[in-house]
Amino acid sequence: MSKKLNRFDLQKMKDSGEQVVWITAYDFATAQFAEKAGMDMLLVGDSLGMCIYGYEGTVPVTMDQCIVHSEAVRRGAPNTFVIGDMPFLSYQVSTEDSVRNAGRFYKEANVDAIKLEGGLRVCPQIKAIADAGMLVMGHIGLTPQSSGQLGGFKAQGRTAATALEAIKDARAVQEAGAYALLVEAVPPEVCKIMRDELTIPVYSIGAGIQADGQLMISSDVLGIFQAFTPKFVKRYANLAEEITKAFEAYVKDVRSLRFPEDKHTYKMIEGELPKLMERLKGK
Ligand code: KIV
Repeated sequence: MSKKLNRFDLQKMKDSGEQVVWITAYDFATAQFAEKAGMDMLLVGDSLGMCIYGYEGTVPVTMDQCIVHSEAVRRGAPNTFVIGDMPFLSYQVSTEDSVRNAGRFYKEANVDAIKLEGGLRVCPQIKAIADAGMLVMGHIGLTPQSSGQLGGFKAQGRTAATALEAIKDARAVQEAGAYALLVEAVPPEVCKIMRDELTIPVYSIGAGIQADGQLMISSDVLGIFQAFTPKFVKRYANLAEEITKAFEAYVKDVRSLRFPEDKHTYKMIEGELPKLMERLKGK
C-alpha cells in the first residue's frame, strides 16, 4: 500500500515532471479499485449528477449528494488524495457560503481538497476558502456548471482572444491562493502555456498531454456513461455491454428455472425437516 500524497508531494511531482493520474469516483467500490490500481488522486465530481443520478447536467446536484458520495469514496480509498467538488450554488452566492460548504467536505467527508469552477469571478471565494486553511483547486476552460452561458459542453479558448481570457483566469486562480488548477477542453497549446507559466500544478481533462497530470471521468473510461462521449475520452472497457450481458443471462436463467441451483441454497439442519412436517400436520 503506497502512502497518501499531500500537496507538497504533488508539487514535487510537477517540479520533477512526473505525471499525476486521477479519475472521478462516486462510490465505495470504484474508490477501492482506483486505489488498488495506484491512482494518485480521486475527484468526487459533481458529474455524479449525470453519471449516477441521470440528470442532464450538473446544475441540480446538491451539497448533500456530494457529501454522501465523498464519504463513500473516502471509505473506499483511505490512502488516496480525495477532492470534493463544490456543486452549483454552493459557492457562487457569497464567500461565507463557500467557506461553510467547503468546510462541510472537510468535516463530514474528510477530503484532502475541494475544487470549484471559474476563473477571475470566483477568486474572492478561492481566497476565502484558502484563508480558512483548506486546499482549493481551480477549474477553468469548459466549466459544466455554466454550460448554459458557454452554449453547451463546448471546447474553450480556441481563438487568440478567448485563449488569452483563459490564461488570465489561470493566473488569477493561482494568485487567489489555489494550490492547483484543472483545465478542461482547451487546445493543448493553451494548456501548455498555463503549465509552463504557473508554479502550481496544472492538470488536464481534454486539454492535451502538456500538463502536470490527467483526469478522466470513470464512467467514460469504463464505458458506462451512455448519453454522449466527449472527443477527449479514451475508453478502456465497455462495461455497459458486459453489465447488460450479465443481466440478460440472469433474466434468462430465472425465467427458465436454471437459477437458483441447489448449490445456491441453504440446507436445513439434519433431522429438522421431518420434525417440521410433523408439526405442520397439527396446524
Ligand atoms: O464533476 C466532474 O467530474 C468534473 C470534471 C468534468 C472535471 O468537474
